[in-house]
Amino acid sequence: MEKKKTFYITTPIYYPSGKFHIGTAYSTTVANTIKKYKELRGYETYLLTGLDEHGQKIQTVAEKRGMTPQEHVDEMANLAKELWKLMKIENNDFIRTTETRHTKRVEEIFDKLMEQGDIYKGQYEGLYCVPCETFFTETQLVNGKCPDCGRDVISMKEEAYFFNMKKYQKRLEEFYDEHPDFIEPAYRKNELFNNFIKPGLEDLCVTRTSFDWGIKVKKDPKHVVYVWLDALTNYITALGYGSEDETLFNKFWPADVHVVGKDIIRFHGIYWPIFLMALDLPLPKKIFAHGWIMMKDGKMSKSVGNVVYPELLINRYGLDATKYYLLRTLMNGQDGIFTPEDFIDRFNYDLCNDLGNLLNRTIGMINKYCEGYIPEYSGCINEVDKDLEEYTLEQIKVSEEHFENYRIAQAIQEIWKIIARTNKYIDETAPWILAKSENGKEKIESVMYHLAENLRKIAILIKPFIEETSNKIFSQLNIKKDLQTWDSLYKYEHIPEKTKVIEKGEPLFIRLNKEEELSYIIEGMKKSL
Ligand code: MSP
Repeated sequence: MEKKKTFYITTPIYYPSGKFHIGTAYSTTVANTIKKYKELRGYETYLLTGLDEHGQKIQTVAEKRGMTPQEHVDEMANLAKELWKLMKIENNDFIRTTETRHTKRVEEIFDKLMEQGDIYKGQYEGLYCVPCETFFTETQLVNGKCPDCGRDVISMKEEAYFFNMKKYQKRLEEFYDEHPDFIEPAYRKNELFNNFIKPGLEDLCVTRTSFDWGIKVKKDPKHVVYVWLDALTNYITALGYGSEDETLFNKFWPADVHVVGKDIIRFHGIYWPIFLMALDLPLPKKIFAHGWIMMKDGKMSKSVGNVVYPELLINRYGLDATKYYLLRTLMNGQDGIFTPEDFIDRFNYDLCNDLGNLLNRTIGMINKYCEGYIPEYSGCINEVDKDLEEYTLEQIKVSEEHFENYRIAQAIQEIWKIIARTNKYIDETAPWILAKSENGKEKIESVMYHLAENLRKIAILIKPFIEETSNKIFSQLNIKKDLQTWDSLYKYEHIPEKTKVIEKGEPLFIRLNKEEELSYIIEGMKKSL
C-alpha cells in the first residue's frame, strides 16, 4: 500500500492562567481547520495542543487562588480539555509541560546544551517583564514599557545560565535567506528580521532563581529552566523525542506548521530555530502567525469587563456559527474586532440568507419541479450554465490556494463568492418561469443539476471549518461518502441518477432577532465575569 503523506501541525501550548476566551480559542480553531483540510487532501495528520504550565505567572495565579500550582494547573487542564471537546477539536495529543515525559527530556536537553558549551553560567542584570517572563534591553522597550504587553518592567539582577545565541547569528540569517517564506505573512517576518535579528542577537538568559515553579536544572537545582526553553520543546517531546519510543518523532518531525499568535513570533522565529540547530535537528517548515481578536475598547481583559467566552456563543448559536465568525474575522494575519452586532449580522446574512436559503430553495425546487430527484447531468445547455461552471471551478482553485497557505479567512471569503454566484444563477435562470414554459423541462433539469452540484461542492469546501453544516447539506441532498471528497471538486459530472433529496429539510440556520440577541450577548458577557 502507498504510504500516506504526513502533516504535523501544532497550536501554541496555552498558559493556564484563567478560562480561555474566544481569542485564545482562535489559534486552536485555525489549527484544527488546517488539519481537516489536509485530511481531505489525503494526508495523515497529527495535531498537537496542550498547556504551558510552569513559570512565575502560574505560580502567582495559584497562590492567589490559595492552591498549589499543581492543583491549579490540574483544574485548568480539565477545563481546557472540556472546551476542546465542546469545540470538536480533533487533537491527537494534549501535552502538559508538568508531565514526566516532557520534564525529563527538558532536563536532558538542558544538560546536553550545557555540555556542548551552548549554555554557560553568568550574571544577569536587566529589565524584566514578569507577566511575559522575558528580559529586555533598554532599546527593545517601547516608551519604557514591555514591547509585548505594554506593562511596566522591573530591574533584576541574578546569577543565571545563558544560551549563546550570538554563535548562531550567522546560521540563522543564512537560514532566513534560504527560506524566505519560513514565517507567514511576510510582513511579520520582515518586522522580526529588522527589529530583532539584523541588529544582532543577545545571549538569552535561560534560567531563573526568583521562583521555583519550573523544571529544575539537574546539576544546579536552585535554578529553574526558563519557561520558553521549557515550552518550545513540547513540540518534540510530545512526539517522544529522546524517549525509548521515537516512532512518532521519526514519522512527523519536522513540523509542517506551527500556528502562533503575532505576540509569540519572536520565540518561534529566533529561539526555537536556534535551539533546534543546537540539538542538530531539522527546523519546522513554517511558522504561521495570526493576528488578534480585539474588542472595540482594545484587548479582551477581565478587568475591562469585555471578555467573550466561546461557550456563550456556542451554546446559543451553535459551534459552526461561532467558528465561522472567528475564522472569518481575522484577515491576512491582521487583528480583527469582535462586536456582537457583527456576529449577528454574519449569522443572518452569510449563514442564514446566503448559504441556508440556497440549500432551502434548491431542495424546495427539486421537489417541486423534479419530483425530488436530482436530474441527470447533460453538460452546459447554455451560456448561463457555462458561466456558472467556469466561475465556480476558478473559485475552487482560488480557495484551494488560500487553504494551502493557511489563509483561512480568505478561503472562506472566496467560497462565499461561489455561494453568491449560485444564488444569482437562480435569479438568472428563473426556474419558476421555466416551469411554466412549454419546452422548459430540459432547462429546468439543467438548472437543478447545477444547483445541487454547486451545493455539493460548497459542502466539501466548508468541511474543514464548519463540518456539521457540511454534513447537513450532504444529508439533505443525499450525497454519499464517495462524493464528499476534495478530488471530486474539479468537474461537474458526478451526482448519480436517481439521487433523491429530502422532502423537507430543516433550515441550516434560523434568522436571529438582532435586538434580542444583542442583549443576550451583552448580558452574557457581563454575567460571565
Ligand atoms: N504559553 C505561550 C505559548 C507557548 S508555545 C510553545 C502563550 N500562551 S498564551 O496562552 O498566552 O497564548 C496562546 C495563544 O493564544 C497565542 O498564540 C496567543 O497569540 C493567542 N491569543 C491570546 N489572545 C488572543 C486573542 N485575543 N486573539 C487571537 N489570539 C490570541 O503565549
